Amino acid sequence: MKAMRFVALLAGLLLSMQAFASQFVINHEFSQSTPGQADIMVVFAHENQPVTVDGWSTELQQLVNAALQANDFTGKQGQRVDVAVPAEVQAKRLIVVGMGEAGKLTRAKAELAGANLVGVLPQERNVTLVATLLNDANAIAAIAHGMDLKNYRFDTYKSKAKARSKTTYHWHVANQAAVTQHYTDYLAIAKGVFLARDITNLPGGDGYPQAIAEMAAKALKPYGIKVTILKPNQVRKAGMGALYGVSQGSEHKSYLLAAQWEGSKEQPIALVGKGNTFDTGGYNLKTSSASIVRMQTDKAGGGAVLGTVMALAAQQAPVNVVAVVPLSHNLISGSALLPGDVVTAGDGTTIEVVNTDAEGRLILADGIWYARDKFKPRAIADIATLTGSKVGALGNVYSAVFSEHDDILATMKQAGETTEELVWELPLGPYPGIISSHLADIKNTGSPGAQAGAIFLQHFAKDTPWIHIDMAGNAFSESPRGIHPAGANGYGVRLLTEWVKLYSAQAN
Ligand code: BES
Ligand code: MN
Ligand code: ZN
Repeated sequence: MKAMRFVALLAGLLLSMQAFASQFVINHEFSQSTPGQADIMVVFAHENQPVTVDGWSTELQQLVNAALQANDFTGKQGQRVDVAVPAEVQAKRLIVVGMGEAGKLTRAKAELAGANLVGVLPQERNVTLVATLLNDANAIAAIAHGMDLKNYRFDTYKSKAKARSKTTYHWHVANQAAVTQHYTDYLAIAKGVFLARDITNLPGGDGYPQAIAEMAAKALKPYGIKVTILKPNQVRKAGMGALYGVSQGSEHKSYLLAAQWEGSKEQPIALVGKGNTFDTGGYNLKTSSASIVRMQTDKAGGGAVLGTVMALAAQQAPVNVVAVVPLSHNLISGSALLPGDVVTAGDGTTIEVVNTDAEGRLILADGIWYARDKFKPRAIADIATLTGSKVGALGNVYSAVFSEHDDILATMKQAGETTEELVWELPLGPYPGIISSHLADIKNTGSPGAQAGAIFLQHFAKDTPWIHIDMAGNAFSESPRGIHPAGANGYGVRLLTEWVKLYSAQAN
């Protein structure tokens, strides 16, 4: 029995290690030189501006622009034309991509343009990308970033996964240094997004608390991130009875993971992410297949905060940030929590567990308390797949944000717009008595549902400036969506990486 468990553990570890293997199939190289011979040449063009490439003769330029006109190509965002290749072009295929009006090219639009090219360009070809007509270095880097994000695959469970060898794309740009600088930062973000996707995608049977803690530690340590892992008995001894309780019915007990990037000596910003590695609902069992399937993604908030810390460390960002991830496995057995049980959180609050399916707030209560107690943060952002109520209110593109701090809300909304990981504010009150309990200090449910979850968490943030992000529904999609392939999308990494920098830059 023990030996079998060991083999299963080893197999799980190997799987999780493989998940990191060469996810980046394209090596983007930026230069100012004149494009040479290629299989495929991609030229990016602005709206209503003539298309040309360094080294093209006037005749060739006229020929190509006439061909584009014949195809009704104006350079509008999203247009793409395959031009019959004139003899003089040093490529077997010429693709012209419209990027819209100059000056209106946002990061999000550029990323999407890059992502949309992924399905068009065959693997492992000699590709030259000409972006000399675009004058925004950040946007050019974002096109490459969009390609990287879309090219992610989680194929560790495929017995015949298609091997994809690394291909170099040769970019031609006007400002090599600036584009390379921006791309280096985007590559760091993509690494964080991939970590979040890997964590979120891992099935609940392999991605239990200990496995996720070890997988994350292994991924984060090479970046100079300080990782602390609290094992189940340490969680219990520290008094985190709410976190411990959620996993008490599972063979895989609760862990707590903290990962700090100290890129500055300022007071840290704490990011607390829900790491419920599977949500059966507990004894308030999720009884429809639609409600229980994909509940391995209930650790997406944890993935988001760990990915964010990885991204900021990989960028060597001058910020002090710590991710705290309470990890649980919400399963049933003879020792699981019962509806109506009372647990005591790390801060001493007693909680009536009216519904065992409202487990996210239980583990986050202790995650937030631990973050406050150990790191004395200047602000806390928690992020969680917390409530179906949020999905009903806002759907799966916006996440819901709750805060009483205008500067946190404003910077979060700004980060949401920049990254198109959009957030929408919901109120924290007045909802008198919403989580009052006759039995204990508070209870873990209330109505309206998303607000009850937020108000419950607010109790544990106390006077630390705090924001709650309910990302239920946002983390995962059965089919590809925009810059994301099918499966987990790493929602939250791009938002929080941007937010930590914006908020950090504000006066302390
Ligand atoms: N993890 C779920 C929330 C969820 C629902 C995430 C759908 C993603 C998609 C959470 O733990 C949960 O079960 N919430 C309950 C709370 C209720 C019992 C108070 C819910 O929203 O139904
Ligand atoms: Mn639940
Ligand atoms: Zn849950």
